[in-house]
Amino acid sequence: MPGKVDALLDEKRIFKPSKDISDGSNIQKWMENHGLSSYSELIEAAARSPEWFWDELAGELEWFSPYSDVLKWDPPHAEWFLEGKFNVVHNALDRHAKGPNKDKTAYIWEGESGEVRTLTYLELYKKVNTFANGLKRLGVEKGDVVSIYLPMIPELPIAMLACAKIGAAHSVVFSGFWAKAFRDRINDAGSNVAITADGFKRRGKLIELKEAVDTILSQTPTIERVVVVEHEGLEVSMEEGRDIWWHEVVQGMDYECETEVMDSEDPLFILYTSGTTGKPKGVLHVHGGYSVGIYATLKFVFDLKDNDIWWCAADIGWITGHSYIVYAPLIMGVTSLLYEGTPDYPDPGRFWRMVQDHGVTVLYTAPTTVRMFMKYGEKWPAQYDLSSLRLLGSVGEPINPEAWIWYHKHIGGDRCPVMDTWWQTETGMHLITPLPISTLKPGSAVKPFPTIEADVVDDNGVSLKSGGGHLVIRSPWPSMFRTLYRDPERYVEAYWSKFPGVYLSGDVARLDEDGYFWIQGREDDVLNVAGHRISTAEVESSIVSHHAVAEAAVVGKPSSVKGEEICAFVVLKETSTNLENFQHILKDHVKIEIGPVASPSTVKIVSDLPKTRSGKIMRRVIKAIVRGEDVGDVSTLANPEAVSELKKAF
Ligand code: PRX
Repeated sequence: MPGKVDALLDEKRIFKPSKDISDGSNIQKWMENHGLSSYSELIEAAARSPEWFWDELAGELEWFSPYSDVLKWDPPHAEWFLEGKFNVVHNALDRHAKGPNKDKTAYIWEGESGEVRTLTYLELYKKVNTFANGLKRLGVEKGDVVSIYLPMIPELPIAMLACAKIGAAHSVVFSGFWAKAFRDRINDAGSNVAITADGFKRRGKLIELKEAVDTILSQTPTIERVVVVEHEGLEVSMEEGRDIWWHEVVQGMDYECETEVMDSEDPLFILYTSGTTGKPKGVLHVHGGYSVGIYATLKFVFDLKDNDIWWCAADIGWITGHSYIVYAPLIMGVTSLLYEGTPDYPDPGRFWRMVQDHGVTVLYTAPTTVRMFMKYGEKWPAQYDLSSLRLLGSVGEPINPEAWIWYHKHIGGDRCPVMDTWWQTETGMHLITPLPISTLKPGSAVKPFPTIEADVVDDNGVSLKSGGGHLVIRSPWPSMFRTLYRDPERYVEAYWSKFPGVYLSGDVARLDEDGYFWIQGREDDVLNVAGHRISTAEVESSIVSHHAVAEAAVVGKPSSVKGEEICAFVVLKETSTNLENFQHILKDHVKIEIGPVASPSTVKIVSDLPKTRSGKIMRRVIKAIVRGEDVGDVSTLANPEAVSELKKAF
């Protein structure tokens, strides 16, 4: 990705958070309380004894019974807070509902239509308990996996918390994926119970979720019960004995439900993410360490205080939502905004109107959203009072310096520092990130969080002081994933085998002379489309599953708004006829197979794809064509003529 590296290399501007922000920050106070007089003292102390650092933070949460040791590290397997008894829901809900926070608002929910509902900690607690009791009645037990496929409605966090409360793991599938993705994830997890809704609206258009789920339920042999939330009041078919309405599940259920005493290392959830092969990876997180890691990062990076209104504008179906909409803000006892719809619907003022109307103080979103608003122009945010904002955040993809500067100026009024947080589904929490006391450089995720040993290395694992290389993490961290569900070998092979005992992130990064990290993007065949991780292999196998298709190659093309767009080159079977409008048919096919986020923006029908003599598709060559770059040496190709055809097609 030479273009990107060069552009970032030129970036020399720096920004310092105001004295008010840094002096009043949680991290500053914590340092003072621990006798640390500077950031470098903090980093040194944490590096000298990571176990001390994490022990202190774990001590800010409530444990049913204490852990014996902070860490057992047997690379690549870590255990944190050994033998501790813990449940995240006790920390996120029970203790607030029974304490001074009970009448504090936990969630302000805004629907796409503009409807607003609020839930206090006590109300949320009761809803979680009644649903948890209902799940038990449906036969859900500790250790089960419940599959959840819900839009951004309050029932989604309620369902997750209810599972965790009774010791079942949840597996949430993004509602923007199509039902076949839900089917595959149910089957991988072996769930007996699935939770969905009748439907929801996306940009005013009705998505009939239950109807979509009905099409896959004959292919999910383990499913016994399907709970359906009535959200849009749709008429849906309910199969006797299998399907049950949410309101019937909670009917007559007790407001109290005992919180299961879990071991620190017991599973909390599985979240599927894309890897280099078509098969999604079931990333597994646990109760204890995960909670400590996300709590510490939300507290120190986003600096949340009692009166903050926090808006993490992600979807709960992704890790950002799991960690920073559901679990960490509730552990901290703050008020969060939960938004059902799209940021620019019905007009590009929607997002900013919500910041104004709800008095949002800290906003966390993705670069793709920032770039979309840059395109609409500053006249939209300028119409609203955004003076409540104190801090801003970015996640999901590299934020280009111009978008950072725009965000800082037009949204943050030149006073809100931008926290560009680098992390992944696997890491559970921010790993490379600024703190509100850091000097910021637009486009850089700044430095590793205390205790995190991040590095940039060459192919031999040797540290690089300049130039792009593999971004690796050399130390364990509490909210690291513990394994890939039902695939422990892939856990070792995909992440820990290239450099034994060192975590391979799959990203390329560069370090500058001040030790700042500049993340360049993925180094594998994983695309990042508008902050969504999508594997080329998954899209290719979906295209090839169409009966008229013989072969397909999928590559990413840089996009000024979405970061990357999906381009597909497709070879049809000779027997295929009647191919009018085939590009659209294939786009729709992928939409139905995976979901709209994975649908290619460009489909080109070609007669051949460039291949090596051993028959491997040369994606490097296709990528170069799509990017308008030099294709390099094609002498090893079995069919160099395919290159000129592709060039013409593009
Ligand atoms: O490529 C990196 C990019 O998103 C990937 C992780 O995607 P996912 O597991 O879906 O989690 C996204 C939300 C944490 C990373 O491998 N990424 C994430 N944050 C950043 C980023 N790239 C650059 N800068 C970031 N701040």
